[in-house]
Amino acid sequence: MKALEGVRVLDMTHVQSGPTCTQLLAWFGADVIKVERPGSGDATRGQLRDIPDVDSLYFTMLNHNKRSITLNTKAEKGKEIFIKLIESCDVLAENFAPGALDRMGFSWERIQEINPRIIYASVKGFGPGPYQDCKVYENVAQCTGGEASTTGFDDGPPTVTGAQIADSGTGLNMALGIVTALFQRETTGRGQRVECAMQDGVLNLCRVKLRDQQRLAHGPLTEYPQYPHGKFGEATPRAGNASGGGQPGWVVKCKGWDTDPDSYIYVIAQAASFDQLARIIGHEDWLEDPEWNTPKARLPKLDQMFDEIEKWTMTRTKFEIMEILNPLNVPCGPVLSMKELAEEPSLRETGTVVEVDHPTRGKYLTVGNPIKLSDSATTVTRSPLLGEHTDEILREILGLGDDQIESVRNEGAV
Ligand SMILES: CC(C)(COP(=O)(O)OP(=O)(O)OC[C@H]1O[C@@H](n2cnc3c(N)ncnc32)[C@H](O)[C@@H]1OP(=O)(O)O)[C@@H](O)C(=O)NCCC(=O)NCCS
Repeated sequence: MKALEGVRVLDMTHVQSGPTCTQLLAWFGADVIKVERPGSGDATRGQLRDIPDVDSLYFTMLNHNKRSITLNTKAEKGKEIFIKLIESCDVLAENFAPGALDRMGFSWERIQEINPRIIYASVKGFGPGPYQDCKVYENVAQCTGGEASTTGFDDGPPTVTGAQIADSGTGLNMALGIVTALFQRETTGRGQRVECAMQDGVLNLCRVKLRDQQRLAHGPLTEYPQYPHGKFGEATPRAGNASGGGQPGWVVKCKGWDTDPDSYIYVIAQAASFDQLARIIGHEDWLEDPEWNTPKARLPKLDQMFDEIEKWTMTRTKFEIMEILNPLNVPCGPVLSMKELAEEPSLRETGTVVEVDHPTRGKYLTVGNPIKLSDSATTVTRSPLLGEHTDEILREILGLGDDQIESVRNEGAV
């Protein structure tokens, strides 16, 4: 038995943020019914296509383990079917533009009226406030949630990150909100509204930068590369590759860096294992030198320290350094390329990277469930074709016969 077996999700999500959430719920065993517009479906089916007329990897990698029904929720007959689906589902998840579901005639009040036990979860770009009506994509939320102003180098522009912290990050938040609401329903018997704003999700992940904003009032941020020679302004500056925690860290070059753009390693020069690090890089002299042998003495010259570390790391590959530094308790991490991650056998074994077979695409790789439950293992199955399960769902959940299905199809509702 899977953890969420018996939970049925009416999945009105599209693009990335919402689908990440419902894909997780499906991996935990929920029956996720993806409602898509007849004809086109989720726009991502056709976006960034690598093979003509085949669902894109963008779509397939976000919609595993779901069923797909096409339904025009703006047509009268489509609305009737939609109401029946709301009646029979535990969760309604959506991430349309603000107000889109209300415009279809389905406000939270109306949804509750149809099914008081339903959990209605939505992702929007912003919570209530000046921007509440705006449409939002990943990088808009990264910029408005504090990520961009704090990422990049001091002398460069604000920089977005390739990790989809706003979309996939907010999807994670919504999944947690939904299972929490399902848990509370066990006691109250009532559903509730779950709202997740992408700006909030990004700011939550930038928590340490708001910490630093407040520390600024009490003096310079000594672990930032701007210290002691650069200038601090009024807001948390961009910190390059400096560590967000209390231990100094930086990305340094490794052997092969001149030809391989990913020949780098992150090294953390934590106080607890500084002696071992100094010895291995050939700086035994630092151990007795008051200019170097305390964290406080090193702080104003972290750039110099990492230059010295780099002289040593440039003589070894990133994997050799991993082998040498870890037994010395020096935390470090090679910069792994997507190619290296795709080929890493241990990630295949744990199901974090999975090969999936698709009827029109063939085999492709995806990221599996990053959350492992000992009593509810995840099996990743391919994403549905557009409307693949329309008849099945109309038969099974609405109890329609062949003639009735034919009739709603002729009306253009599905
Ligand atoms: C992502 C986003 C910018 C996309 O905007 P968009 O492509 O213009 O899509 P919308 O959400 O506005 O939906 C377009 C229309 O399709 C309609 N539609 C969607 N599914 C439908 C269906 N099954 N039947 C009938 N109409 C449907 C919607 O009702 C909407 O109509 P309206 O404009 O008349 O209200 C927007 O949905 C958004 O801001 N979402 C919230 C934030 C978010 O999740 N962003 C991250 C995406 S990864």
